[in-house]
Amino acid sequence: MSPASPPLWNPELDETLVCCAVRRETHDVTTFVFEAREPRRFAYQPGQFMTFELSIGGQSMNRCYTLASAPTRPDRVSITVKRIEGGPVSNGLHETLTPGVSVRALGPMGDFTSSRHIASKYLFLSAGSGVTPLMSMTRHAYDLASGADIAFVHSARSPADLIFDRELTLMAANMATLRVTSLCEDEAPGQPWNGYRGRIDLARLELIAPDWRERETFVCGPSAYMAQVREMFEAAGFDMARYHSESFDFAELTQQDETPRVPDQTEQTFKVTFATTRRTIDCGAGTTVLDAAKAAGMRLPSSCTKGMCGTCKCKLVSGTVDMAHAGGIRQREIDQGLILICCAKPTSDLVVER
Ligand SMILES: Cc1cc2nc3c(=O)[nH]c(=O)nc-3n(C[C@H](O)[C@H](O)[C@H](O)COP(=O)(O)OP(=O)(O)OC[C@H]3O[C@@H](n4cnc5c(N)ncnc54)[C@H](O)[C@@H]3O)c2cc1C
Ligand code: FES
Repeated sequence: MSPASPPLWNPELDETLVCCAVRRETHDVTTFVFEAREPRRFAYQPGQFMTFELSIGGQSMNRCYTLASAPTRPDRVSITVKRIEGGPVSNGLHETLTPGVSVRALGPMGDFTSSRHIASKYLFLSAGSGVTPLMSMTRHAYDLASGADIAFVHSARSPADLIFDRELTLMAANMATLRVTSLCEDEAPGQPWNGYRGRIDLARLELIAPDWRERETFVCGPSAYMAQVREMFEAAGFDMARYHSESFDFAELTQQDETPRVPDQTEQTFKVTFATTRRTIDCGAGTTVLDAAKAAGMRLPSSCTKGMCGTCKCKLVSGTVDMAHAGGIRQREIDQGLILICCAKPTSDLVVER
């Protein structure tokens, strides 16, 4: 008789992951493997991310990391993190996260996933650490022997920066419908490069995947890369409904949407008092508390501004709000009086613990 499977990880109730392995991928990229503190299986869609809540230098910080692992191996999840120069969390993880160390995590969540866009042919385009969601999708297709035709084109600075190179090569050797191509801008000391040189452009894409127009396309990488690839696809007249991209930089997403909201003259206004900083501001009924605070010159912790990441979570001491979040807060936290100020609009005067 087989032993009963552990229950599924429940984002509402479960929050502690324990690091069980650390794997160096490149000189500045490391994979951290986690299991749940209590026995759990993880159910998620390949490409989704979790928000990690870390305490660095006594300060609580939230950052999102894609699960580079595949849901076909449900007992563990892994993230693959690139050190960002001067970045507190990416460096903090590299320096302190060792087997046995626990972290708090929220999710999985996110809609950048091949599971929501089933197709017979895919084009995965990634650069740098943007490889992680596409790796999850590829591992998933590989484990399921899905038969999906995947052209995976990864760009890196040099051969020393190629993440998952050996695993992708091995998967491609065992999966006839997976083709992996790497492009490097330069050689690395002692590592000459005989493959494609430079950045992805239309001429190279035509050579690597001549049928690229027929492929459901997923793109992830640094902002300059993402902008260049999008422009290339738009200029070539690609059907952008079949073009899916994810940015690791929420600031960029926020800037894109930052059309200042002009408050309606007749709009009802409420007082919002920040108990810790002892400031009171006006906030229109149609304005989020975060937007009103920003407009008043206050700087409060925030990241996605879309109710996803949980960075702006704080205690509502009194008052009521209308909150349309996107997974960045658990129901039990809402029941305890917590709110996400980036997506909470007042329906009365408020006192907030900030
Ligand atoms: C949905 C989502 C998924 C993500 N998945 C991953 C992942 O799988 N692996 C990973 O390493 N990071 C991932 N990130 C980025 C991660 O959340 C952090 O932003 C990153 O680790 C930097 O955090 P930090 O505290 O070290 O530096 P910060 O002080 O937060 O950032 C420093 C600067 O670096 C920029 N930056 C952030 N990430 C990158 C990057 N990957 N490449 C280049 N510049 C960057 C930021 O915009 C900022 O300007 C993801 C982000 C999002 C929103
Ligand atoms: S800033 Fe991400 S949930 Fe509010």
